[in-house]
Amino acid sequence: MAVRLGDEAPDFAADTTEGPIEFHRWKGSDWAVLFSHPRDFTPVCTTELGALAALKAQFDRRQTKVIGLSVDPVGEHHKWKGDIEDVTGHGLNFPLIADPDRKVASLYDMIHPNASDTATVRSVFVIGADHKVKLTLTYPASTGRNFQELLRVIDSLQLTARHSVATPADWQPGEDVIIVPAVSDEEARKKFPAGFTAKKPYLRVTRQPR
Ligand code: BEZ
Repeated sequence: MAVRLGDEAPDFAADTTEGPIEFHRWKGSDWAVLFSHPRDFTPVCTTELGALAALKAQFDRRQTKVIGLSVDPVGEHHKWKGDIEDVTGHGLNFPLIADPDRKVASLYDMIHPNASDTATVRSVFVIGADHKVKLTLTYPASTGRNFQELLRVIDSLQLTARHSVATPADWQPGEDVIIVPAVSDEEARKKFPAGFTAKKPYLRVTRQPR
């Protein structure tokens, strides 16, 4: 069954390039990005894992752990690591789950049979400190993901978890945010001392709270 927004991220035990893990225990009270890629030794995946390794410190800064998955065995993951570093200049610095029996892929509905019977699609799950799923994305094998966008989304998710705000289209950290409709004008004046601008009665913008 599909894993949907607001669901608890299913727990599992699996072997990874950093040894066996139990997912919830490994994640702890941090946020996490769990993502799948189709296969080891494939071109787009090689560029993706290098790109993500290059951004690892930025995920760390957001208390967000990163973990990848494909249906290849752990020995293949280890053999592929050298290629990733060779091609991208960034060594793998997060665990890759080996899922040859597709146990985790099935749990998270990462195999879409009309795309491929055997390989995982490019799924992404952003999971909050509370183990709840905050974001899902699905890309096809032919399109590499934009991991800067994931950082932007995590910034929005973490901000909107702390304050009664939402972020507009193409928002970047530091830009103005939207006060959620559930907050009355009177409450908004108390919550947001910097004030707000009502572009429409339902569209009120304020400075990004810290
Ligand atoms: C790739 O990672 O390059 C890839 C994997 C499966 C199908 C097509 C491309």
